This record gives sequence, C-alpha cells and structure tokens, in this order.
Amino acid sequence: MSRTPTKIGLMGCGVISGIYIETSQKMDPIECVAVADLNPDAAQFRAEQYGIPKACSPDELLADPEIEIIVSLTPNRLHGQVGMQIIEAGKHFYGEKPFTVYRQEALAILAEAEKRGLRTGGAPDTYFGSAWQTARKAIDDGLIGRPVAATAILQGRRGPITPEMRARYASFMNNPTRSTAPGHVSFFMTDGGKYGVSNTFDMGGYYAASLINLIGPAKSVIGMTGKAFEEVVRGDQTIKVEAPTHVTGVIEFQNGVLCQWLTTSDVYGTGLPHIEIYGTEGSLRCPDPNWFPGPVYLRKPESNELIELENVHAINQDTRGIGVADMAMGIQNGRPHRSNGEVGAHIVDILNALHESSDQGARIQLQTTCAQPKPLPVDLPNYTIDE
Ligand SMILES: NC(=O)c1ccc[n+]([C@@H]2O[C@H](COP(=O)([O-])OP(=O)(O)OC[C@H]3O[C@@H](n4cnc5c(N)ncnc54)[C@H](O)[C@@H]3O)[C@@H](O)[C@H]2O)c1
Repeated sequence: MSRTPTKIGLMGCGVISGIYIETSQKMDPIECVAVADLNPDAAQFRAEQYGIPKACSPDELLADPEIEIIVSLTPNRLHGQVGMQIIEAGKHFYGEKPFTVYRQEALAILAEAEKRGLRTGGAPDTYFGSAWQTARKAIDDGLIGRPVAATAILQGRRGPITPEMRARYASFMNNPTRSTAPGHVSFFMTDGGKYGVSNTFDMGGYYAASLINLIGPAKSVIGMTGKAFEEVVRGDQTIKVEAPTHVTGVIEFQNGVLCQWLTTSDVYGTGLPHIEIYGTEGSLRCPDPNWFPGPVYLRKPESNELIELENVHAINQDTRGIGVADMAMGIQNGRPHRSNGEVGAHIVDILNALHESSDQGARIQLQTTCAQPKPLPVDLPNYTIDE
C-alpha cells in the first residue's frame, strides 16, 4: 500500500548516524528530511553524503514543523536531556541506547510523552534481525519447552592495537555509513570511563533487549560490580576509569527464568556463547546481539549435537533504524510499536539495578516493566515492516 512517509530528523551526526539514514532511505514508512548537530560541519557532512535536504542546528530541528519524529544519536550522558527536549518540542522521540543513563530520566520522559500524547522509543533494534526472530520463533513454537534459565555474556576486553587491527578499523571507519566529518572525535574517547558509557550500558542494552524479545520483561536483579583497571586505552588515548567495568549478576525474569549476566571490559574473551536460553526440552545458543543476522543452534535432549536452525526471516543485514520505521508505522496505523520507551526504560532499570544491588548488597526489585515485543511475521520482505 502506498502511503506518505513520516518525516524524521536526526539529532547528532556522528559515527552511527549514517546507517540510520541508509535504513530510512530503504524503508517506506520513514523519510529523513533533516539532520542536526551542535557541530555544523558534522550535519553538513552527513547531509551532503546522503542528499538530505536540510542540515541545521539542534534548535532549528526541534522547531521544524515538518518533522514528526526526532531520532537522538547523541552521547549517552545527553540522552535524558535531549529526549526531554524532543518531547517538549512536541515531537515523537526515538533514541539510541541507552534510552537514558538514569532511571528517573527515563520515567520523566515517559510521563511527559504520555501527557502530550507522543510516542517514545529507542534502540537496540537488532532483535528485528533474522537471528533473533529465528530464536524467538523457536521458543514460541515450543522447541525448548518452557524456558527456565539463560546466560548473557559479554567479555569485552580489547587487546593491544596491532597494525592489522588499526587497518581493519580504518577500513571500517571509511565505510560510508561509519565515516565522519574531518576532525570528528567520538564521545567514547572523552566519556568512555564514566558511568553510563561502560560496556554494561553500551553493549549491555543489546543483551537486555534480546532477552526481553526472547523471554519477556524482568522482575528483580542481584548484581556485583568491579573494576580491574584505573585507566584504559581507547584509540590513541588513555582515559581514567570512573565507573565499574565488570558487572555480573542474576536477572530474574517475570516468567521465572533466571539469567546469569556478565558484561565486562576487564577480561579477554575465550569464546563463551553470547546468549543461551535453556528450556525444559532443549537449549538454544544465540549469536552476538550487536548484529541482526547470525547462526542460532538448538540442542535437544537426545543428542548433545548443536543443530543450526533454518533462518526463514529476511532481515539479514545491519538495519539500525528499523525500530524508527516500526514506530512510524505504529503511529500511521494506530498500533503499538516494538522498541518503545517502556522497553527502553526497563533496560535502563535493569542496568542501574545491577549497580545498585552491588552498592547496597541487596536484591533490587525492578520499578518498571514492559510488553514483550511482538514477533515479526516470517514472510516479511527485507526492509519492510508489518502494517
Ligand atoms: N558508534 C557506534 O558503533 C554505535 C553503535 C550503536 C549505537 N551507538 C550509540 O549512538 C549514540 C551516538 O553514538 P556515536 O558513536 O554516533 O557518537 P559520536 O560521538 O560519533 O557522535 C555524537 C554526535 O552528537 C553530537 N552532539 C553532541 N551533543 C549534541 C546535542 N546536544 N545536540 C545535537 N548533537 C549533539 C556531536 O557533535 C557528535 O557529532 C550513542 O548513544 C551510542 O551509544 C553507537
């Protein structure tokens, strides 16, 4: 069905903004018509690169009457502030992860949006990808029976930068979607050691979102945190570590699943699986939740062999921003959207609770909940979203 796309604008034109524009140019429900940044060169760079009609200041974007959804791709510490500005400007708000750093910021945005009848949402949306929809279908179809336990493991310590790694990184950053305006300095280089930017807040969101997609919302959390190093190297810089970098614990889900959690940048990985879901009739091994596709393996009781499940879903590539298209379709058709603000706030609640539990030596009951996102139809063509 042909329809008028919802006009969106991007706030923040750094590393991740390119893929959002590419996705918007491939998906009918949305059209990116403006990009803004505090740094005018960054906005100009992206606008010229992708032929976006307008490069403007943050205030001009907020005041633009043409735009219905503003997508915030700003540094983590600003997510609460910028999200609230977008809502107060009367626009629907979609943000990169984490939805906010602190729980109260997230709840304030949800309350203000509800008062104004506006939608909120945010990344991660990698679980729209084929791997995660395959795993979800396996669970929904009963292939592992009743889920009872899970693991979520990110061992993210980086080794010394070798010339090969430097070359690989340079070629990745030269990839059009990740390239940036000359002189651009990623906020990870300045804020990388602060609370809200650690691996737990950065990558942990992918793990939490994938678990919520697979088994629904959580109920309580026990956590312990640590910090092995006072300084870490990021790119060519050494930065001070000011927040826990090793976060481990147990998340109790509302359906009774107990999930062992580890998000750390203190230890080198040894190949432990990223996410596994264990049921009464089998076990599921899932790939890295930072990505949309990847192999999903099933182990049944009869054999310890891991069998790769057939992928029948079409979203097999980086499609960051598909959550915005889903939100736009939700607005157009009056249906709920999947990566909504409740999911975002629930993830923020979980990540903070892991730290608070450690600080207080106590189990933390979560203050938020959310609906388990609806699975995507299996026959959905690539770069489309269901009505
Ligand atoms: N880099 C990645 O691979 C990646 C992947 C997924 C998600 N993310 C998330 O996306 C967000 C942005 O990450 P990034 O890597 O693009 O960061 P970045 O540092 O490359 O870019 C951030 C941009 O925001 C601009 N900015 C700062 N304050 C602003 C404001 N008040 N209004 C408008 N613009 C402002 C900066 O000038 C900069 O151009 C972060 O939340 C990050 O966690 C990043």
